[in-house]
Order: sequence, then structure tokens, then C-alpha cells
Amino acid sequence: MKTLEIDKEYINKVNNLIAGKNKKYIVYTMGCTLNENDSEKISGMATEMGYTQTENINEADLIIFNTCCIRENAEEKLFGKLGEVKKLKQERGTIIALCGCMMQEEHIVEKIKQSYRYVDIVFGTHTIQKFPEDLYDLLSKENKVIDILDIDGEVYEGLPIKRESKNKALVTIMYGCNNFCTYCIVPYVRGRERNRRPEDILREITSLAEEGYKEVVLLGQNVNSYKGNGYNGINNFADLLRAVNKINGIEIISFISPHPKDFTDDVIMAIKDCNKISRILHLPLQSGSSEVLKRMNRKYTKEQYLNLANKIKREIPDVVLSTDIIVGFPGEAETDFEDTLDVVKQVGFEQVFMFIYSKRVGTPAEKMENQIPENIKHERFDRLKELVENQMQENNKKYIGTVQNILIEGKSKTNENMLTGRTNTNKVVVLEGKEELIGKIAKVKIVSEHMWYLKGEIA
Ligand code: SAH
Ligand code: SF4
Ligand code: F3S
Repeated sequence: MKTLEIDKEYINKVNNLIAGKNKKYIVYTMGCTLNENDSEKISGMATEMGYTQTENINEADLIIFNTCCIRENAEEKLFGKLGEVKKLKQERGTIIALCGCMMQEEHIVEKIKQSYRYVDIVFGTHTIQKFPEDLYDLLSKENKVIDILDIDGEVYEGLPIKRESKNKALVTIMYGCNNFCTYCIVPYVRGRERNRRPEDILREITSLAEEGYKEVVLLGQNVNSYKGNGYNGINNFADLLRAVNKINGIEIISFISPHPKDFTDDVIMAIKDCNKISRILHLPLQSGSSEVLKRMNRKYTKEQYLNLANKIKREIPDVVLSTDIIVGFPGEAETDFEDTLDVVKQVGFEQVFMFIYSKRVGTPAEKMENQIPENIKHERFDRLKELVENQMQENNKKYIGTVQNILIEGKSKTNENMLTGRTNTNKVVVLEGKEELIGKIAKVKIVSEHMWYLKGEIA
């Protein structure tokens, strides 16, 4: 895989065109953390081109929708938003750009060409670095641009970046996915796995530490299949974790998403040995039924998953687990669903992200027989939710009276007078405290639990 350095030619060209004109942009992040990290790069490029960010869509000169297509409601959301901005386009000539995963779907781009002709720029997941060139073509030649690559792109280094958070930095370590879980659209819209070079990742994290970042989140669709090039002895994910753990200034390391099939012993040992790695591990289950897992192409059985979860808990006693579950996959029988409930009961997850199966165009599961009726999917979802919420409340109690090291992230969104942060198991903690604590790690005693958050006091 070739790694290319970004060329700033078009960033400078756009900058020359709009300099001094007080142009503003707004970017909507509609997907996962990888999508969020892409938005940060889009913001970085927009800023270097001379745009300033606004939160007010009515004063934006450039609107960018960074789309997602993991489930059906994502499409409804985008087309709803596009309907809303049509008026802005007509009144102010606002530039409308679409990018992200949904733009890699042919039927969507067709629909945009036919029914949303006022969209100016469309670029995909492999052409994000061409956004300045596309914008330049539009501004200088009034060319509408559709810039999508079907084949996998290269790995680009050196894109400008404007980060959302001052404490926690997202660092993509690999792009794409090779797993082809049968329900999932990601391999079709993000292409095959491509790894960043360890030296590039380490350089980025070292400079983040120098800027004052305390926490990094390593991102990829399947982070534990990461392959290094041998730089400083880094050949796999476990090696990378150990190297990141040595970077001075970084105090918390987390990663999403690992795949159970690649959760090898060396990864478990690296987590055990590295004290900076977060004590919540995401172990996406998807289903508890071996039969359903086989048809999902997940490459593990119920028993293998349970053995892995037990091994992790045994080796790293202070670790807790979170997971993703899909209910209503085609052919899921009541007994299959009960297997899922059984795994949830046995593992006792700290956090469960629950999804109702959603048909994705072009995936194998779309064509499978025995699609589950909506009412059954919803009924199962509700049963799972009830179990998870009961477990969560029970589980929260174990925090009461404990003293936790909390990275104070900022003011609470719901109460200006309170601060908020997270435990090393990702539980939200709300507490009273002085603003100077923001960005620092504080010792906090947990005093009560409230389902979605814990309340604490400076210890
Ligand atoms: N690479 C990650 C998943 C990324 S997508 C992993 O393997 O864990 C995030 C989650 O969305 C998945 O874990 C899955 O639970 C859910 N998901 C993916 N496709 C879906 C679909 N078609 N319908 C419902 N949920 C889906
Ligand atoms: Fe989708 Fe499976 Fe790849 Fe995750 S591992 S992105 S669920 S195909
Ligand atoms: Fe993420 Fe959605 Fe794409 S979940 S990888 S933005 S399809």
C-alpha cells in the first residue's frame, strides 16, 4: 500500500479566491467516530482554505454533509436535511457538498443527480483529500463536481485537521474492512483494509501529546487486524498498543472497534501490561446464536465468544466489556434471540449498543429468506433493552463509594454549574467543581447512580 503526502496546491488556490471575504462553513457529521475524524479533516481543509466555522446554518456559505449509510434511517435523515437547505441555496447561493459513506452507493448518487440537482459537490470516502480541488473547480469554473472512486484509495498523510475536542483526540490507524459481515455495508463503501504506517501514527500521537492532549482513541473498523511494517518492531496491533503506551503525556488510550476473531492473546497481554489503556473493551457480539453468527459471517460461535470474554476478564480483572447487538437478523428464531439474551446475562456488559436489523442494498443478508417482521423485531428489541437496563442499574451500584480517576472533559451539557468526565470504564460522571479542573485528571468519589450517569464529589 502506497502512502502519499498531501499537496496543498488547491487549498492555497481556494484561499486566494476567497481571502478576506469572511466566508463561513458548517459541517454535519452523520456517522461513526471514523466519520467524525473525517469531518475533522474536512474542517481542517476548510479552515486552511480561509473559511471560518459557524454553528448557524443560515449564515453558512458552504454546507458539508458527511453522510453515513449503516442503517436505513441515515438516508431519511440526509434527504430530509437536503429538503431543508434547498431554500438556502435559492436565497443565498450556499454551496452544498455531500461526502462520506453514502456517496459510495451508486443508487444514492443516481438519486442525487436526478432529484437534488442543486447539490454542488459530491465526493466519496476515497477522495476526501480532493475536496479543495473540487471546491476550486466549482468556484473558478462553476463546474459541478462528482468525484467518487470505486477502487480503494491510497493512504494520505498530512491532511490539515481541526479537532472537535481539546482533551481527547481521534486517530485513525486503518481504513476499510475485509470482513464482509453479511448485514454490513461498510466493506462496500470503505473498501479493503489499508493500514497507516506505525511511524506516521506515532508521530501524530507524539505531537498530540505535545499539544496537551491526554487521551487518544485509535480508530478502525477492525483495529486488531492492524498490520505494521516492522518500524521499531511494530508488526501488529499489540505492538502498536505497547508503543503508544510509551508516549509521554498521553494518559488514556482506547480503541474502537476490535473484532472478536482477532482478539489474540498478544492483544490481551498488551492491554494487561499497558496501564494507560482504558479498562472498557468493546467486544461486538452481534448475536448470541452460533447459527445466526454463521449466517452473519462473524467467524466465531457463541461458545468461542463466551470463552474469549471469560479469558479477558480472567487475565485483566479490572476490565469491563461493552458490545453491539443486532436484533431481527433474517431467520432469527425465538431460540436464537434467547441465546443473545443468555450471552448478555452471562457476560454482564457495562454498556450495550442495540440495533434493529436494517436491510442494506447490495449486502448478502438483503437477499436472505425469512426477513423478520417489524413487530417481532421491535418486540425483541424492547425485551433486550429491558434486560440491559436492569443489568445496568444493578451494575452501577458497584461504583458507589469508590474513588475514580476522572479526566474532566468540560461543563455538563444539561447543567452549566456542574462538570463532567468519564471513569476509565467510560461511565459518565457529573460533579461540582472549579472550571480550572477542565482538561485535568481528578480523584472523584462516586456518591450516587442515575442509570445513564454517576454523581461524584472531588475526593
Ligand atoms: N466494525 C465494527 C462495526 C461498525 S458498524 C464492528 O465490527 O464492530 C457499528 C454497528 O452497527 C455494528 O457493530 C452493528 O451492530 C451495527 N450494524 C451494522 N450494520 C447493520 C445493519 N444492517 N442493521 C443494523 N445494525 C447494523
Ligand atoms: Fe461491518 Fe463486519 Fe466490517 Fe464491522 S467487521 S465494519 S460489522 S463488515
Ligand atoms: Fe461509519 Fe456509517 Fe460509514 S457507521 S464507516 S459512517 S457507514
